[in-house]
Amino acid sequence: MRLQGKVVVVTGTGSGIGKDIAERFALEGAKVVAASRRASTGQGVVDAIVAKGGDAIFIQTDISSEADVTALFDAAVKKYGRIDGLVNNAGVNFVCPFEECTPEAWDRVLNVDLRGTYLCCRRAILEMLKTGDGGSIINVASNHTMAAVKGAAPYDAAKWGMVGLTKSLGIEFASRKIRVNVLSPGLIHTQIWDDILNAAPSHQECNDHWNSNIPMHRVGTCAEISSAAVFMISDESTYMTGANLVIDGGTSSQLVTAEPYESKKI
Ligand SMILES: NC(=O)c1ccc[n+]([C@@H]2O[C@H](COP(=O)([O-])OP(=O)(O)OC[C@H]3O[C@@H](n4cnc5c(N)ncnc54)[C@H](O)[C@@H]3O)[C@@H](O)[C@H]2O)c1
Repeated sequence: MRLQGKVVVVTGTGSGIGKDIAERFALEGAKVVAASRRASTGQGVVDAIVAKGGDAIFIQTDISSEADVTALFDAAVKKYGRIDGLVNNAGVNFVCPFEECTPEAWDRVLNVDLRGTYLCCRRAILEMLKTGDGGSIINVASNHTMAAVKGAAPYDAAKWGMVGLTKSLGIEFASRKIRVNVLSPGLIHTQIWDDILNAAPSHQECNDHWNSNIPMHRVGTCAEISSAAVFMISDESTYMTGANLVIDGGTSSQLVTAEPYESKKI
């Protein structure tokens, strides 16, 4: 087991990537503190982990609230005595033309995706400093941190901000054995992908369109993100800090999407 005995806080565990990370970490022997906004989904995820013999607790948390984040880490330390890892996964998506992007919408996205990440990093680092054993923090951003997507200004600003925060903390705490890295997924099969498909007039056309933008011609799976997260929290990645690990089937590496003709040797 690659995370045996490590106490790891994971945010946004009610669904999608965060749910998969919480389940996988428990299988790898971690004590998982699962934090999510809705108890209706979050508690069930933890109950299922415990039913399979895993060690986990659920704490209902809005990560944009300082009081909630304080209560989350207090409960985690009360139950397990220390913090070894944190995965800042909770986030809200955003798609809207910039002309219609109100200050309220901007604040909502920035407050969850960037301020929430800051608040959780702050408390986790304070706890890690108390033990002196260091720790590992993953900030889940997006392959939007390699470029940008139209209509996603607050999301892109927040996710790029997470990279800056990560690099700053990575170098500030490197000598104290606290590692901070970004994990940037591309399009992953979660509710977001199902919503995109369901909003399209044709599932097949929508699927073909998106797949043609991904060199591997498919969306990724939550398990492919969780595998990277295990590596980044584990002691297999002890020389890694300030990095942005992009897992997107090659999407952000290409300059053009679909080629008009097959490249020939010139
Ligand atoms: N799915 C993708 O294709 C994709 C691609 C790139 C990046 N990401 C990033 O991965 C992360 C997870 O995405 P997902 O697709 O699994 O999303 P999701 O919507 O399925 O899950 C997000 C979880 O975060 C929780 N959450 C939202 N706001 C919260 C708050 N204020 N406090 C606490 N919990 C909150 C939700 O309740 C939910 O459980 C996000 O940060 C997202 O930006 C996802």
